[in-house]
Amino acid sequence: MSEESRRGASPAVRRRRTLIALAAGFLVLAGGGAMVLGGITGRAGALPADPTTTPVPSATASPNPPRPFPSATPEPVPAPAFDRTARSIDDPDSIWVVVDKLRPLNPTDYGPADLVDVPVPFANPPKLRQEASDAVVALFAAFTAETGLALQSQSAYRSFDSQTRVYNNDVGNLGQAGADLSTARPGTSEHQTGLTIDISAQPGQCSLDACFAQTPHGQWLAANAWRFGFLLRYPADKIPVTGYEFEPWHFRYIGIDLSTEMHNTGVTTLEEFFGLPAAPSYG
Ligand code: DAL
Ligand code: ZN
Repeated sequence: MSEESRRGASPAVRRRRTLIALAAGFLVLAGGGAMVLGGITGRAGALPADPTTTPVPSATASPNPPRPFPSATPEPVPAPAFDRTARSIDDPDSIWVVVDKLRPLNPTDYGPADLVDVPVPFANPPKLRQEASDAVVALFAAFTAETGLALQSQSAYRSFDSQTRVYNNDVGNLGQAGADLSTARPGTSEHQTGLTIDISAQPGQCSLDACFAQTPHGQWLAANAWRFGFLLRYPADKIPVTGYEFEPWHFRYIGIDLSTEMHNTGVTTLEEFFGLPAAPSYG
């Protein structure tokens, strides 16, 4: 044993030893808390085995190849915009034709080529174009299946001549201003397209009257006609656009694509949907 050991280390030596001890401690901490906890007998960084935890296999020890990162969520593909030009709004043979006080049929004495008898109950024998007739049959059947009630046709296709009789009769009863709020002048009626039907309850209840809107029949039609390609053409709040008073019985066939688009977008008149001028009067 050296003299120094026997008598104790000098202050300088003790300072050196302290520094060395601090440096060693720093290295141990930097090497990982595991070494501090587990002692230097274990492998550096290894924790003592804990029987209560499931060991996590290391990547290299795994029998399964590492899973790839999940790919990024695909961008949703936007639905194609509805094509408002897909059909003509001018051609009287088009199911999208827009007829109002500013848009008379061309020619004004137009008559459809494919009129058929509509096989539904009626007040007056109805004719419509084949496609519209099929849709009316489907609508009436669904109405009865879903409500247990029945509908009937009041009026469907009207020729230029029959529209002339209806209009002149209204002028006699209401005067021209009154008639123009309820009946189209010949050549400007949707009934002349063969795509339109006036529907009432069977047995009759509020037929061709605003109170039809409060019947179960009128309420179901207002909520469901779009499913079959129909539009309630003269809504109560659109008189300045359509030029006609509320007609909860008058349904225009426009096809399911367009009726669904109008239903989904909440646009209730053809004039607004196609960006056409309002037609409150004949100009
Ligand atoms: N009642 C509708 C407006 C027509 O006469 O066509
Ligand atoms: Zn009508």
